[in-house]
Amino acid sequence: MLLGDFLREGVSRLTSLYPAPEARNILHLLCGERLGIDRYTHVTEPSYTIPTEYLSALSDDLDRLASGEPVQYVLGFEEFCGRRFKVSPDVLIPRPETEILCAEAIRIGLLVSKDRSGPIRILDLCTGSGCIAWTLALDIPGSEVYGVDISEKALAVASSQDPAPVVRQAHQPVPEPVEGPVLEPAERPVFFQADILLEPPVSLSGKFDLILANPPYIMESQKAEMRPNVTEYEPDLALFVPDGDPLLFYRAIARWAASLLSVGGTGIVEINELIGDGTVAVFKDSGFQNVELLNDFYGKNRFVKFS
Ligand SMILES: C[S@@+](CC[C@H](N)C(=O)[O-])C[C@H]1O[C@@H](n2cnc3c(N)ncnc32)[C@H](O)[C@@H]1O
Repeated sequence: MLLGDFLREGVSRLTSLYPAPEARNILHLLCGERLGIDRYTHVTEPSYTIPTEYLSALSDDLDRLASGEPVQYVLGFEEFCGRRFKVSPDVLIPRPETEILCAEAIRIGLLVSKDRSGPIRILDLCTGSGCIAWTLALDIPGSEVYGVDISEKALAVASSQDPAPVVRQAHQPVPEPVEGPVLEPAERPVFFQADILLEPPVSLSGKFDLILANPPYIMESQKAEMRPNVTEYEPDLALFVPDGDPLLFYRAIARWAASLLSVGGTGIVEINELIGDGTVAVFKDSGFQNVELLNDFYGKNRFVKFS
């Protein structure tokens, strides 16, 4: 089968789910990954024929995509903060907004580490795939990072990560993973199971310089506005909070932070843009003096930073 024909068929099967440019991007990502070709191969080599040994797997991939499964689950990875992270339906697919939280946390962590002889201690609540925990462990040398989740299945994914940096080359839709800094076993994040709606486990001793969290924050009533590739495939446990109590995770995070954040430490949480002021009030009411809203790329209230 000609690559061009496969792409045309793929776009026509995906356009009921995605706008055409997004459908094309998904197919270029798939073909780049599976065939090792670049985005323009169907143009520069119009006679490029998909080798027969790849056809059956590609056709299975296309069936999965056409049923609405996100391309990240089909391929088994997502790129986050310049590294490739494993994903499965047991974990939320890391989102670009969350990279902003990591960038701010890394900025603060590196500043703190300049004046510190011992390690920076970081706690990532609701860690999911572990993308935040691993990014900070890799980008803040000498940090000591802990990741917490209620889901054993998510923790299995987080613990199994081995995030490789990706290098994007011109005309290549799918960047190549390359060798990057490797963390010694003692520098890897430590993941453990806990329900953050309960008190922190007594085994979690000491204070933390940074407490970060991207908890579930989408209200059940917002589900109707979401695309089926999210609502039918990503875990409900990672996404939704009851309409009647959308701030419950932030009250819990404020309780954990009240006992675990060091003097001078900073917390950053990702939030639902519809309840920015309410989220700020939770941290102010819990006694944090400096509480500020930060925006995402679209100018929406997306994070609360507190200290
Ligand atoms: C929005 S996802 C965030 C995943 C990841 N940190 C990220 O940014 O991509 C929220 C995570 O919270 C976890 N979670 C839900 N309820 C929890 C609870 N009561 N205690 C701890 N973790 C919880 C879910 O399992 C899920 O992994």
